[in-house]
Amino acid sequence: MKLLDHYREWRKMAEKILKEEVENLKPLKFKAIAFTGMGGSGIVGDYVKSFLQDVSRTPIIVVKDLYLPTWIGKDWLVVAVSYSGNTSETLSAVKEALSKEAYVAAVSSGGKLLELMDKERLPYVKVGGGYAPRSALPLLLYASLKLLDELGLSIPMNQVQESLDVLGGVKEAEDEGKSIAEALKGYTPIIVSDVRYEALAWRFKSELNENAKIVAKCETVPESMHNDVEGYEEASSKFKALLLSAHDDTVYTKVLEKFIEELLKEKGFKPYRLELKGKGRLAKLMHGAHVAGFTSLYLAEKRKVEPVKVELIARYRKFLEEALP
Ligand code: F6R
Repeated sequence: MKLLDHYREWRKMAEKILKEEVENLKPLKFKAIAFTGMGGSGIVGDYVKSFLQDVSRTPIIVVKDLYLPTWIGKDWLVVAVSYSGNTSETLSAVKEALSKEAYVAAVSSGGKLLELMDKERLPYVKVGGGYAPRSALPLLLYASLKLLDELGLSIPMNQVQESLDVLGGVKEAEDEGKSIAEALKGYTPIIVSDVRYEALAWRFKSELNENAKIVAKCETVPESMHNDVEGYEEASSKFKALLLSAHDDTVYTKVLEKFIEELLKEKGFKPYRLELKGKGRLAKLMHGAHVAGFTSLYLAEKRKVEPVKVELIARYRKFLEEALP
């Protein structure tokens, strides 16, 4: 199956994984959660954190590192997400979490991670293989939400349902992706979002890196208004700004549309505005990710590059494995 077909199946993937069982489920009591994972798996922690930060009282942090901060230990739940189950950084963080007596749970398609989870009888959700990690976002994300829900963190299921409905709009997302690909062709994209949507801005950047094989940057409001904004003085012929507009009940939509967009136009940038669909945070995050996937694939087609191959990531992974003790 082609990568494009994976993205077209996102709603089905999400619905299927929400019905999966959690293995080795047991009641746990934790005071905070650390998600750990890298790349297409690491983004899941960012998504969960962004989704739950306004609805859950349990602190959530994301660790994209070989090592954990010293203060993670007993009473923490460390959720490891790795599509392959063989990512060195994630495996190292999991081993450290176990040595610090934190609870560990996982989402993966297999590999060393699930071998370890089985051996230690720790909770996990197994997702299906055969995808690229980035094209399996719904599997990894909704499996993580299911896992947290079963472990006692209550997840707003109405928002989950709304996000599934939004993912049903495949044609609209694909058409929007095609238009954005056309607009971005030949430029270095600058993706601008409200800080609540930083996870999406990062995801958009990463999809353009991994599928379309281009350099891209992202920046978030309000921090970017204290530094990046001065860079708008640089030549507009090299860059194209993509504004992610969420229309949440904050001042940031106004800042994005009435200040940044106007300023970019003034500086000759011709910004593209993507209106995120849905009411809740999760629906908007997933709509944006869906459009990002399609954008990156249509841009790859225009650039005549093979999106599925990630040779340089593979080269780094091998280097790290050999470099580690
Ligand atoms: C995304 C991708 C990478 C991997 C990353 C971690 O499609 O290929 O970003 O997600 O190298 O690997 P996993 O996801 O197997 O832990």
